[in-house]
Amino acid sequence: MRRRNFLGLSAMSGVGIFGGAHYLLNSCNVVKAASQADFMVQGTDPLKVRAAAKNIIYGATTHLEKLQKDPAFAQQFVKECGILVPEGELKWRSLRPSSTTFNFQSADVLLQYCQQNNLLMRGHTLVWHSSIPDWFAGTVTTQNAEQILVDHITTVVNHYKGKLHSWDVVNEAINVPDGNPDGLRTSPWLSLLGPRYLDIAFKTTATVDPSALRVYNEFGLDYGNSSSVQKRTATLKLLERLLNNGSPVQALGIQAHIWSRDMPKYFNPASFKQFLKDVASLGLKILITELDVADVDLPLDIPSRDLLIATSYQQYLDVALAEPAVIALLTWGLSDRYTWISDYYPRSDGAPVRPLPLDAQLQRKLAWNAIAGALDRAPKR
Ligand code: XIL
Repeated sequence: MRRRNFLGLSAMSGVGIFGGAHYLLNSCNVVKAASQADFMVQGTDPLKVRAAAKNIIYGATTHLEKLQKDPAFAQQFVKECGILVPEGELKWRSLRPSSTTFNFQSADVLLQYCQQNNLLMRGHTLVWHSSIPDWFAGTVTTQNAEQILVDHITTVVNHYKGKLHSWDVVNEAINVPDGNPDGLRTSPWLSLLGPRYLDIAFKTTATVDPSALRVYNEFGLDYGNSSSVQKRTATLKLLERLLNNGSPVQALGIQAHIWSRDMPKYFNPASFKQFLKDVASLGLKILITELDVADVDLPLDIPSRDLLIATSYQQYLDVALAEPAVIALLTWGLSDRYTWISDYYPRSDGAPVRPLPLDAQLQRKLAWNAIAGALDRAPKR
């Protein structure tokens, strides 16, 4: 297993750029060029098949519109994915045209698509500080906030009762720099209801549909630097508090929006492994919910760039998938043809971004190999 030793990087190791070529440092600090050959995998099985062999679910996010308007993309989606998560269709801005109405149209079509194509579906997301509709500020008050939250969750969860794999019940509730007790984010829900909004959300979801796995979903947990570590500590504290209160959270969703540029500086395999273990020891499952690798500040040259992106996928997933509590892996998109990174984290040179497993022509990239290889190496659940 030369390759495993070679890529089994210690906390001291990293990826460097020397004279325009890209190298990995192994734990003895021997510089060795990473090459495409380091990402070779057996056979051509799609990601969902490799995942299923380990009792892991692989899938991705998409907007309904992409599946409807782009049959070639839809074909690849169904081929590679065992689970779909709507990218916007279940967020408040889509579901809630007004304070008294619900519009399930797009999400219902997505569910039907999943059912017809043998895909599971996740729900994202019932409670979030973002995607708040314009009517919210003028309508929701401290007097009616609890009722509006409970009504929303009851109606939406009931609409999909028994049909979803899991719900991101609460998304992104922590932001340590806000300075609130327990690191909670200053969100409309915290301002209106205090920390108990999380308890209300998990309890209501469990009562209405006990069958969907209830997930607390968070970003910024990936690195070993102080902001990530503080957020990990706050996350563990929140999960423990919820469990102690009898608020039935069942899993942590780790978004995993990573930047290849930052991996050598900040990714610490040992501390990430320990964090996963700490979560698992609370009796919780873990889902990697939104993985992608931003290529901000990476070289323009595509072979070099793809090698660095694939290396980031491999380093991250070799640690994540080694933890048996990790039961699902989703990338935030499948093909570079459609990715939020183009809008949110574009490259400064304006070149098209390459954060996902398939390229914009829907061909498998080195990142695909990195994911496939990590799934092949993962222990069976
Ligand atoms: C993003 C979508 O990808 C975009 O299309 C949308 O405009 C904004 O939201 N964390 C989350 C996701 O939990 O809901 C976000 O999705 C990406 C970051």
